[in-house]
Amino acid sequence: EAMLEEIIKSIAADVFQQNDWGEPAQYIPELAAVDPQQFAISVCLADGKVISAGSPTKPFSIQSISKVFALVAALGRVGNQLWSRVGREPSGTSFDSVVLLERENGRPRNPFINAGAIVTTDALLCGRQPKLALAEILGLVRQMSGSDSIYINDAVAASEQKTGSRNKALAYYLKSHENLSNEPDLTLGTYFHQCAIEMTTEQLAMAGRSLAGLDGAPKVISQKHVRRVNALMMTCGHYNGSGDFAFRVGLPGKSGVGGGLLIIAPNVASVAIWSPGLNHYGNSYAGTRAAEMLSRATNWSVF
Ligand code: DON
Repeated sequence: EAMLEEIIKSIAADVFQQNDWGEPAQYIPELAAVDPQQFAISVCLADGKVISAGSPTKPFSIQSISKVFALVAALGRVGNQLWSRVGREPSGTSFDSVVLLERENGRPRNPFINAGAIVTTDALLCGRQPKLALAEILGLVRQMSGSDSIYINDAVAASEQKTGSRNKALAYYLKSHENLSNEPDLTLGTYFHQCAIEMTTEQLAMAGRSLAGLDGAPKVISQKHVRRVNALMMTCGHYNGSGDFAFRVGLPGKSGVGGGLLIIAPNVASVAIWSPGLNHYGNSYAGTRAAEMLSRATNWSVF
């Protein structure tokens, strides 16, 4: 553990020394305004101890990382029925791409690209009011992290609602293929709010315990679903950058356009990293570098 503390400290020092941050997401005005020169890392070990560096108590917008929690909730609610509406293959396209949707008759490739996440949230709604589905996701996230102080930032949700033309196009296209049960705007409103959940890296690392199979993790996901969600994170968690992430880090991970990363080292650790500047895939620039340094220094890898 003392060694891990040293490793994490030196990763943070390296990130600040390189002074190379990338640019925050520009298409969501509330995120574009975030100072890119920020970094946090938290590692939760098998015994439940969390080791951090940078600013691990600063809440950030988890964005697409929420797709993991929505998937866990939807699998719990509708089970395998979900797979008739969304696939399990990497898309090789960007997170907000529309191109495959027409070719593949409105069935998104996987639950982590936006189209697939919108379908997943639609399935989770099950005809309920959005606030009930959102309460379910938020409740799950709080339970998984063991922290009640996790909230939705309404200004971020509103910011995306105003500018989210691409997601609206995806939702209406899905509806035209009868792959949305609810009105597109209802599903989208739920999706934008789930993306606007804010967490700290400490909370996110704790929330990953169930997926990493660590001791003391709340039993909210079956072992079967743990394996499947990790497989999807490995193959699809970074969109068209998933191969590159697997190559560099060798662990299942999920990125968010707020600059967050959730990384699972099965049976060993759950890792959360945040730095808001992005690479050209829309994943955290410094965060991905930090993840690469961590897996190299610790030898954590599924390979
Ligand atoms: O739907 C969107 O575009 C955002 N709410 C989430 C996208 C995202 O986080 C992509 N990840 N890198």
